[in-house]
Amino acid sequence: MKRVLLTGAGGDVGQRITPLLKAIYPDLVLSDMKPLPNTHGLPFRQAELSDLPSVKAAVADIDGIIHLGGYSIEGPWETILNANIVGCYNLFESARLAGVKRIIFASSNHAAGFYLREETIPAEAPPLPDSRYGVSKAFGEALGALYAMKHGIGVTSLRIGNVGEVPLDVRRLSIMLHPEDLVQLIRIGLEHPDIVNEVFYGISGNTRAWYDNTRAEKFGYRPKHDAETQLKHAEAEQKKLSPDTVADAYQGGGFCSIEYTADMATIMDKLDRTMDFSG
Ligand SMILES: NC(=O)c1ccc[n+]([C@@H]2O[C@H](COP(=O)([O-])OP(=O)(O)OC[C@H]3O[C@@H](n4cnc5c(N)ncnc54)[C@H](O)[C@@H]3O)[C@@H](O)[C@H]2O)c1
Repeated sequence: MKRVLLTGAGGDVGQRITPLLKAIYPDLVLSDMKPLPNTHGLPFRQAELSDLPSVKAAVADIDGIIHLGGYSIEGPWETILNANIVGCYNLFESARLAGVKRIIFASSNHAAGFYLREETIPAEAPPLPDSRYGVSKAFGEALGALYAMKHGIGVTSLRIGNVGEVPLDVRRLSIMLHPEDLVQLIRIGLEHPDIVNEVFYGISGNTRAWYDNTRAEKFGYRPKHDAETQLKHAEAEQKKLSPDTVADAYQGGGFCSIEYTADMATIMDKLDRTMDFSG
């Protein structure tokens, strides 16, 4: 994998992993819709994801793409539609036209945020989005499957938990993803010869993970970090937060309770919440 394009390079995750990626892929190219705080001495291609011609120009002569660009929290429909749905389509279509071989898609735990915290879900768990943002990530995973099966691009969707070096609260003990572990997952997606279309959980080797990441492990993922080592920090931060019945029940946390109007007790009664993924 020679020329790798990183979209959303100016964002929180992009800025964290650019120096790590640069050491592995010296021909790394950065892209974002606005100039970057720091290009780390790398070439930069400005591109607005909802504008197909500008995405096509950014993707020209690229071998592999790490697609982080997009709106990264819950937001108004128009914003999600343009950045994450139209933008994601433009990215995959431009990649097909340019002959790109591999794409890493930054999906999210919010594509499956309405699973209960007692559940352990594998990569095969169907999406259960907790927000318009989560729906856009489920769309991206589906689009990735289409371009993998129909056009032969090797696609890896990472259902990312929370990227950082410390768990920001008790929920993040289950879903934290250390940047070094993220880079390991990205390398598998870009380089492993057997990738067709994969969904991996973007989490470190967390003791209290809600996700069964066997699929990633089969491809050689060996996370080096575990959020549990910073349990005291997470518990101290948790004490600063107010309880929230909906957020505290589901894996997606606060995204689940945004605009929530259902009667949760009735839903819990009706649902068979013991999901069996064993068969
Ligand atoms: N940070 C996390 O822990 C986390 C968790 C789950 C998923 N993700 C996903 O990973 C990716 C990176 O996350 P982040 O925290 O760095 O987000 P961020 O919001 O900090 O960065 C996103 C970047 O995308 C760019 N962008 C937004 N809209 C764009 C558009 N229309 N055209 C071109 N560029 C656009 C922004 O300028 C920004 O630099 C996102 O796709 C996010 O949904 C992140």
